[in-house]
Amino acid sequence: MAESITITDNRTGSSIEIPIVGGGVDAAAWRKLLPGIWFHDPGLATTAVTTSAVAEINGETGILRYRGYPIEQLAEHSTFPEVAHLLIYGELPTQNQLDEWVDLITHHTFIHENFRKRIYDAFHYDAHPMGLLTSGVAGLSTFYPEAKDIFDPDNRREQIVRLVAKMPTLAAAAYRFSRGLPFIFPDNAHDYPTRFLKMMFDVGGEYEPDEALVRAMRVLFILHADHGQNCSTTATRVVGSSHADPYTAIAAGCAALYGPLHGGANEAVINMLTEIGSYDEVDSFIASVKRGAHRLMGFGHRVYKQYDPRAVIIKKAAHDVFAVIGKNPLLDIALKLEEVALADDYFVSRRLYPNVDFYSGLIYQSLGFPTNMFTVLFAIGRTPGWLAHWNEMIEQNSRIYRPRQVYVGSERRDYVPMADR
Ligand code: ACO
Repeated sequence: MAESITITDNRTGSSIEIPIVGGGVDAAAWRKLLPGIWFHDPGLATTAVTTSAVAEINGETGILRYRGYPIEQLAEHSTFPEVAHLLIYGELPTQNQLDEWVDLITHHTFIHENFRKRIYDAFHYDAHPMGLLTSGVAGLSTFYPEAKDIFDPDNRREQIVRLVAKMPTLAAAAYRFSRGLPFIFPDNAHDYPTRFLKMMFDVGGEYEPDEALVRAMRVLFILHADHGQNCSTTATRVVGSSHADPYTAIAAGCAALYGPLHGGANEAVINMLTEIGSYDEVDSFIASVKRGAHRLMGFGHRVYKQYDPRAVIIKKAAHDVFAVIGKNPLLDIALKLEEVALADDYFVSRRLYPNVDFYSGLIYQSLGFPTNMFTVLFAIGRTPGWLAHWNEMIEQNSRIYRPRQVYVGSERRDYVPMADR
């Protein structure tokens, strides 16, 4: 059987055969046969916008691999800095490479005091920390104007180090600002997740996070580190494709992540569970979802048509955390929602399963994070993924993103003076 497709233009009878390569067909052949006829693909659901070697996702079989390594193995054995190195540079680091990388991302954690104070002080005291983070990342580009030299690999590496190192500092500063708490400087004596937890929660030098909590933070960062051409990675790429500096491109990723259909979903899950309020209300809530009154947040995924592999790992991590600090009271509601949904034809027929956000919020809440910090945590984890795709795109010297539209508006018409409308 030929590994190709044939497209025929029925208006002219001309046709073209396009080979199927790696699960895709080259749109250039379509363009050649059908100039001016656009492939109408809302949400880019059927369009591969690039080739990429960063993450492999198979939504049918529930597979996620970073650079070939199964997510389950990385969550079990790796550290977040090691995973960041793997995603960005393509290989697990040797011991020397890892030492150097960890040293770099440990010694570039500070943000300029002027910058932190002036940028964050400009916001209202109860500003959403995701708004602060997005603005903070964008603002960093003004501090590092040399970052615009994106075709110099050494310069790119320097900005990558800064972004991976500074995201937790910006994030914790956003939280402390929104709580009216004094800022805590990053402490180089600790590993990445511990340093972040201490910047978040320390008061008077007494906060020592339990090992199980640090482990959960590490796993959550790893699980969120990349997911192919998702909305925020695409936003990063779209902005980066105009050759904007990486801070501006990553700020675009943060902005895209902010929405409740993407990184904001874990916050929406907790709000939903709180609103449901009790185990007994689950059935009527599911009925209202089926009537179309609202969505079951944390369920469904554009790519996964079965259990999200990250949700399996997170569900287990949630139990580990609850074993140390007690069960989150919303857990029972979540478990019953899952059970009822997975047995209901509405969800089964649409192949809607729990995604990464269904259980992550419960852990974050139990760790002490307020709901408005959940997306910020996602952003810290996703930063290496955004950077890996941005770096790959610059190396590929890819074209600027410029999709087409199918115009459905008015025909040409003449301007009508105000008095005649
Ligand atoms: N609850 C109820 N019904 C749903 C849900 C849901 N969570 N998700 C999809 N559906 C239904 C839709 O109503 C639609 O039904 P229909 O065919 O009768 O019209 C069908 O399933 C297909 O849904 P689409 O919206 O076309 O799926 P799409 O791929 O565009 O959206 C998305 C994927 C945005 C994740 C969606 O499933 C959703 O809104 N989920 C809830 C939000 C969420 O959890 N987001 C986090 C995603 S993971 C992440 O970003 C890290």
